[in-house]
Amino acid sequence: MTSAQIRSSFLDFFKSKQHAIVPSSSLLPTAPNLLFTNAGMNQFVPYFLGDQTAPWRRVADTQKCIRAGGKHNDLEDVGFDTYHHTMFEMLGNWSFGDYFKKESLTWGWELLTQIWGIPPKRLFATVYQPGKNDPSVFDQEAYDIWAKIFKDAGLDPKVHIVHGNKQDNFWMMGDTGPCGPCSEIHFNLLPSDDEKAGRALVNAGSPRCIEIWNHVFIQFNANADGTFAPLAAKHVDTGLGFERVAGIHATTKGFKDFSAEPSNYNADVFQPTFDKIAALSGKKYTGTVPTDRTGLKAQEHVDIAFRVLVDHARCVSCAIADGILPGNEGRNYVIRRILRRGIMYGRKSLNLKIGDLTSLVEPVVQSLGDVFPELKTQRVMVERAIRAEEESFGRTLDKGLEIFQLHADLAPHGGKIFSGQSAFLLYDTYGFPLDMTQLLAAERGLKVDVSGFEKLMEQQRERGRAARKTDVIVASTEGDTVAEATKFVGYTIDPAQATHAKLVDVVKTEKDTYLVFDQTPFYAEMGGQVGDAGAALIDGVEFKIVDCIKDKSGRHLHKLATAEAPSSNLQPPKIGAAATLQVDYSRRRAINRHHSAAHLIHWALRKMLGTHVRQFGTHKTPDRMRFDFTHFEALTHAQIKECEQLVNEKVIDNSPVNAAEIDYDKKPADVLAFFGDKYGKRVRVVDIGGFSKELCGGTHVSTTGEIGVIKIVAEMAIAAGTRRIEAVAGQAALDHIAAKEAALSAVSHRLNAGVADVVQKFGIN
Ligand code: SER
Repeated sequence: MTSAQIRSSFLDFFKSKQHAIVPSSSLLPTAPNLLFTNAGMNQFVPYFLGDQTAPWRRVADTQKCIRAGGKHNDLEDVGFDTYHHTMFEMLGNWSFGDYFKKESLTWGWELLTQIWGIPPKRLFATVYQPGKNDPSVFDQEAYDIWAKIFKDAGLDPKVHIVHGNKQDNFWMMGDTGPCGPCSEIHFNLLPSDDEKAGRALVNAGSPRCIEIWNHVFIQFNANADGTFAPLAAKHVDTGLGFERVAGIHATTKGFKDFSAEPSNYNADVFQPTFDKIAALSGKKYTGTVPTDRTGLKAQEHVDIAFRVLVDHARCVSCAIADGILPGNEGRNYVIRRILRRGIMYGRKSLNLKIGDLTSLVEPVVQSLGDVFPELKTQRVMVERAIRAEEESFGRTLDKGLEIFQLHADLAPHGGKIFSGQSAFLLYDTYGFPLDMTQLLAAERGLKVDVSGFEKLMEQQRERGRAARKTDVIVASTEGDTVAEATKFVGYTIDPAQATHAKLVDVVKTEKDTYLVFDQTPFYAEMGGQVGDAGAALIDGVEFKIVDCIKDKSGRHLHKLATAEAPSSNLQPPKIGAAATLQVDYSRRRAINRHHSAAHLIHWALRKMLGTHVRQFGTHKTPDRMRFDFTHFEALTHAQIKECEQLVNEKVIDNSPVNAAEIDYDKKPADVLAFFGDKYGKRVRVVDIGGFSKELCGGTHVSTTGEIGVIKIVAEMAIAAGTRRIEAVAGQAALDHIAAKEAALSAVSHRLNAGVADVVQKFGIN
């Protein structure tokens, strides 16, 4: 069987057992507590928890998974062994409250031994035996099922069943979420099929006996407080390591000859990428695996680099195709780290040059594009993003490697420690992720002083914080009273109507005074939208409000103009007083225009450039808006014009803008939400004309026509992989156009040429 046949035979088998075959979900997880999709079950979490009804009782699929950060992290082993990957396919079958342990384990055994012909004697099963303080009880049910299976195969259950504690046999997706006891199937790959020898290697970290299939019996939800709540129904979640089985099949010539050293990389799914690296480097992969990370032989360096590149090219291609671009934070930084490691190994051990990693996208698409079609549709974007990283990191890599050598040669403490200061220098100036420096250091038998590095990182963060530090808000509410959130009544404002409210608190800081009311039409700065300004009339005195911010309890703090602050003679008003609040209406409308313009620009960029474009940060004021987004290269002049054209078409269309509150769980799939951002149970969806839907708490125009016109005034890079657009809308856009016109007409006057002739006069056209 080829790798592709193994994949399809798994899916066909479960189809014959009435499973619906579904596509892999994106590597960008839907669960907010995950960095990446790390298991086949992630996309089914709402069904396990009973939040949504599953459309099927049984499903099977092949799922792209990344385990390179968070609870499940295999990154350190990639390249150094032959069976860990950053990105792998997990073949899986699921029951949503339908069949349970008996069917799952029996079918698993049938597929492995009867359909694929794996010798039963080489298989071992593990069952859950809780240790002290571990959840739940011994999994007698799984034990009994396995005992019968092994007995029927003429094998001794006592030899073939191994008990495992929470660490090995209680599967959790993350620290929270659906979980339960599991039963794994391990494969003895020793040359001899001696059962005792095989059993001894189960869960012993040997490449000669590896887990191939995990059957999880989802029965609990892990709560944040460490408790486990039983679920209403019991489910099955299994995961079979596709590359492992394909690799074993290839190494053993169809599970028959166990004399050769096993390696996942023998699977034909990796072959096109190996071939390409060999062609680019002129070197040969020989499959050596080091026993130690220090004192590597020349060919071991080469073979490690081959494996790293084959693995990393798949991982970054699939991640980028799913919109996870290399960046500076969270999951984007993990992808950057993986990419940089690949670039570094390619350079150091295979003498590859800038652009070579980009050319590995082609064999990745060739081997996986039919199964994961987004690799084909997003290919150009994937190549550009990798190329951009190769170019930016490539510029400092050689110098960084030189610095590393130099500092490693000078290593203090008897030559065993690579200083935190050197690691920080490599990180800060040469873009070396810490784990990459650790890998390089390990090759020289050095340990990086991580705490020294962290200390310098913290100092750098502190400098950043100090630079950003603003006035500290001190809540004046004392004692145990929990301050009540202010009721916001200002999504739509009638300029003819003031809002009546009660003053509930006066908050003072060293510099400023803030008024707090029980309710308010003043929007408090949030989601990049600036706070409202306006006035509060209290006991016949008008207080000018220049800004509004929110404190931790959700109270809107209305900032008084400096003249009305504590140092002035004006007495702050009395708590309990009745107030009339009036938002500066024309300022608010100008903010609304810029906020809705930001949504339109976001929509247009995703439409033009691809769905990898994601809002990264934004700022909306009455005069201007700033929109930061993930993208790997500068927009061309033509793209900026196209973006302007697209958004202004929507402005002229005068599309309606609606907002509605819904349950986060019920959010339709086409609503843009940004994980990593925190959302409550209830969320607000802003829908512009049915084409742009985003989770957003801000204020907007009521139809797009109100925006008037949008002009993009700047486009720039703010970090590798992150761009910024600045734009103006409404009156600010008209002012911008007028200023440009005035400049043009001054020039035309000076040249004594009509405006239309100016360009010609300069010989530009
Ligand atoms: N969720 C389990 C795992 O990832 C089985 O699919 O191992």
